[in-house]
Amino acid sequence: MAGTPRIALVTYDPRGEESKDRDMPVLAGALREAGAEAAVVHWDDPEVDWAGFDLALIRSTWDYSWRAEEFTAWAERCGRETRLANPVDVVRWNADKRYLGRLAEAGVPAVPTRYFAPGDPVELPDGHEYVVKPTSGAGARYAARYPAGERDAALRQTERMHAEGFTVMVQPYLTGIETHGERALQFFGGRLLHASRKGAVLEPGTPYDADKIAHPDLRPWQPTAAELDVAERALAAVPGQPELLYARVDLVTGEDGQPCVMELELIEPNLFLWLHPDSVPLVVKAILAAAC
Ligand SMILES: Nc1ncnc2c1ncn2[C@@H]1O[C@H](COP(=O)(O)OP(=O)(O)OP(=O)(O)O)[C@@H](O)[C@H]1O
Ligand SMILES: [Mg+2]
Repeated sequence: MAGTPRIALVTYDPRGEESKDRDMPVLAGALREAGAEAAVVHWDDPEVDWAGFDLALIRSTWDYSWRAEEFTAWAERCGRETRLANPVDVVRWNADKRYLGRLAEAGVPAVPTRYFAPGDPVELPDGHEYVVKPTSGAGARYAARYPAGERDAALRQTERMHAEGFTVMVQPYLTGIETHGERALQFFGGRLLHASRKGAVLEPGTPYDADKIAHPDLRPWQPTAAELDVAERALAAVPGQPELLYARVDLVTGEDGQPCVMELELIEPNLFLWLHPDSVPLVVKAILAAAC
């Protein structure tokens, strides 16, 4: 590598508040200790000279989901000026959770989902509890669960989402999450790095526009062989088989008792490095390798 690697750690602008990204100080400190230049930059800062970096690593651009078009346009621009991880094609594909349908078509177990774009009449399920959420979301924003038969509140949510341009996803509420939690398998540099488990996020009766605790009861997790298999199949089904510097596969227990994909996070996953300090050297090594 010629000289000191210059790495942009790309995040959101917390607008004067403290950043919610707990990985960032751990990662920036470890990269600097390893001899790299690590700059924490806001993706939407017009002053940033992306060409001045060897690598732009998307880390915590958590406001992108309600600015998806602006964000993918930025990723296109940034990817022309420097190496972007993950690459822009991956960003574009992963920014729209209709990818869950694509995974299911490819034979990967995924949470069964119906999609209703603005203008589409919304059909709500009968006879079981269900979840309504957007195809572009983060931190359970605009996500809520409804008991079987509840329609009015759910339709108020879908009307507001449609008015704001969001496509609505409707899924069965998977009750397995109450006992088995949600497991996040984190990959980095092409291998399993670590896994975590968190409790259920959606409480009955919590309004869709309330703030939620995004990672309740988060703890390290040893993934089962079945979980690893589904996660690897999900990654293998990403179109074009791109090189992924990082990936997180979120799994829940489906109605058949087997793991299924709730979310494939290829843009800005929490890495939970503060929970898994042993993973830090591997992450630093993979980032430095990607920057050369
Ligand atoms: N079908 C479902 N059954 C049970 N729980 C669900 C379902 N869909 C969503 N949830 C709960 O809501 C949370 C947020 O949903 P999801 O991960 O799909 O959206 P998100 O906004 O991308 O969230 P995050 O960025 O926090 O991962 C999940 O972690 C889970 O606890
Ligand atoms: Mg999630």
